[in-house]
Amino acid sequence: MIAVRRMTVDDLPAVVAIQSASFPTSWTHDMLRQELEQDLGWCEVAVDSDGRVAGFLFGRRYPDTWHVVDLAVEPARRRRGIGGRLLDGFVEAAQESGAEVVLEVRPRNVGALALYESRGFAAVGLRRGYYGGIDGDALVMARQPAGRHSSHSPLLDLSGPLLAVESSCDDTAVAVLSPQGRVLSAVTHSQDAIHERYGGVVPEVASRAHVERMTAVVSQALLEAGCGVEDLSAVAATVGPGLIGALLVGVQTAKAIAWSRRLPFCPVNHIHGHLAAAWLADPKAQFPMVTLVASGGHTILVRVDDRSTFHLLGQTLDDAAGEAFDKGARLLGLGYPGGKELDELAEQGDSGAFSFPIGLKRSPKPDFSFSGVKTALYYLLRDMSPKEREARSADVAASYREAIVEALVMKSVTTAVHEKVRTLAVAGGVAANSLLRKRLVERGAAAGLRVIIPPFSYCTDNAAMIGAAALGGPRLPYPRYLDVDASASLPLGQWLPTL
Ligand code: KG4
Ligand code: ZN
Repeated sequence: MIAVRRMTVDDLPAVVAIQSASFPTSWTHDMLRQELEQDLGWCEVAVDSDGRVAGFLFGRRYPDTWHVVDLAVEPARRRRGIGGRLLDGFVEAAQESGAEVVLEVRPRNVGALALYESRGFAAVGLRRGYYGGIDGDALVMARQPAGRHSSHSPLLDLSGPLLAVESSCDDTAVAVLSPQGRVLSAVTHSQDAIHERYGGVVPEVASRAHVERMTAVVSQALLEAGCGVEDLSAVAATVGPGLIGALLVGVQTAKAIAWSRRLPFCPVNHIHGHLAAAWLADPKAQFPMVTLVASGGHTILVRVDDRSTFHLLGQTLDDAAGEAFDKGARLLGLGYPGGKELDELAEQGDSGAFSFPIGLKRSPKPDFSFSGVKTALYYLLRDMSPKEREARSADVAASYREAIVEALVMKSVTTAVHEKVRTLAVAGGVAANSLLRKRLVERGAAAGLRVIIPPFSYCTDNAAMIGAAALGGPRLPYPRYLDVDASASLPLGQWLPTL
């Protein structure tokens, strides 16, 4: 049994111990005693039936805003609702006096983020260097008292359309979505033709191409949606992960539009966008689900508990699946990026003609590896005569595709079954692969899974999925987003870069 009561001086040694076990720097006994004597202070402890202190909360009650200064639970007793009990008392008292509650949290502290979100807190800004050190930025979260209009409520409460911008790699994409998540327009300008001559995406060239096209793509998306900038109620952009120069073009464009209309800005994690393709394509999609994201840059398996809660289950240890397709296409002398061409050629071949290794086939882990299959292809082609290569290219492509697809399907289905979910979704450019689509449906159905395969336009990089993710993610009110940056490496589950 846990009880919550006012903190006394006698509790301070236990509080100091919990604090130093929880945070890199902790307050001294004297500092805490002063806090206890504060007129505005709110100091409570959670104690067990033996009277032992299990957690504490320090708060301050300023006239309109109450501040959670410090909340911690003894490490061995976490995840038992003790933090929630302490927080609830503070939040309820703030609610009664009509005050907003604010707090700071480390963006990576997903347990704390989930607790605060469950109590109605939403991200409202980033406080740089708050905790000190290189990783010391704090996410500022706020909770409005019920009944007061919130300018940063986390979920669908927009009064007008949302404009979403995606520029993380080589596609300049802009979409307009209704507040309910309906796609009103989605425009993508692919840079494939530009990068083809280099055989890969050249970051600086991609950034410049984004700059040249962005304004036209925004105008076209607004035109097709039948609305103007003045009709918008929020603007979203991919802030990472991706090519930093390319990302910056989209982030700055979106922030500038939001700023010019005093609108909120929604920072979106690109992977969250790919995951959102599932519920964009199927609004009745059931959570929790397992989603495979397979693109040119990523191959990951994610458990998606709701529109903004995910757990990374597994990932590729080397190449991404799209990369394996593209490198294979290159070895076979097909076009750029090549995944599609290899897929088409494979349709005419015999997938049993050659045997390629299936990466990590015997490992129980939900991870992938595609370097072996790529190397095997290299040696197979090297040892063939030009004539033989020509005659057997469709069989080679079919056998190569078979090994990659089998790894993706096998790991996805077993992971979904292991996670005891009923829905399996796939996203990312590789989801366009005809064999992958067919086999996922077959094997998913055999395992009792409902399989969601979004249309191709939502699988490759696009802005509609970024908009769909934005509607379930954080929203920063004007002008609290002006210092939000792009980030080349933004982990899944994190929306704001911490540079
Ligand atoms: O998601 P996406 O558009 O961009 C990235 O974020 O990477 O994915 C592009 C990748 C490329 O590697 C491309 O070759 C691959 O998706 N791809 C395919 C097919 N269509 C596109 N791979 C296999 N079969 C396809 N039909
Ligand atoms: Zn992508």
